[in-house]
Amino acid sequence: MQLKTLALAAVTVTIGAAALAHADVENPVVKERMDLMGDIRGAFATLGGMVQGKTAFDAEAAADAKATLEASAAMIPAKFEANEMDPESEAAPAIWEDWDGFTTMASELQTAVAALDTGSLESVQAGFRPIGAACGACHQGYRVD
Ligand code: HEC
Repeated sequence: MQLKTLALAAVTVTIGAAALAHADVENPVVKERMDLMGDIRGAFATLGGMVQGKTAFDAEAAADAKATLEASAAMIPAKFEANEMDPESEAAPAIWEDWDGFTTMASELQTAVAALDTGSLESVQAGFRPIGAACGACHQGYRVD
């Protein structure tokens, strides 16, 4: 009973921390694009866990993660189109100064995700690196740290 209460408390704390991460973001447009990146990170982490051997390979979970990444990558231009800012945002002005370059980076992520074969651990390992490279390339040019 006590253990169960403790476990529940731990879950509540974790969810609370995730919700708090963006508690200070007041601009709803910025919040939405951060949430989109959060979904992308979640799916990417699912694949990363398998690639690194932290979780067992699961073809269904890998296919789900791929579907989430495909859908989310396709939404990047729409979610970033409005030139909106918030003190919490890490978006660089280059996004709107060089919109074509930014959307090209989003397409490159889509291409890398489309090429991912989720059928085996080996194929996920092979396709994971280009996806990570596409994240990094866009962050380097269009996100300030
Ligand atoms: C086309 C450009 C682009 C691509 C591709 C991209 N990102 Fe981002 N990402 C951004 C920008 C810009 C921000 C900053 C948004 C803001 O703070 O307003 C960001 C923010 C983030 C954040 C922080 C979100 C937050 O809560 O503040 C995470 C995590 C993230 N990206 C993960 C990823 C991962 C993982 C990938 C690849 C699977 C990826 N991104 C691909 C542009 C991109």
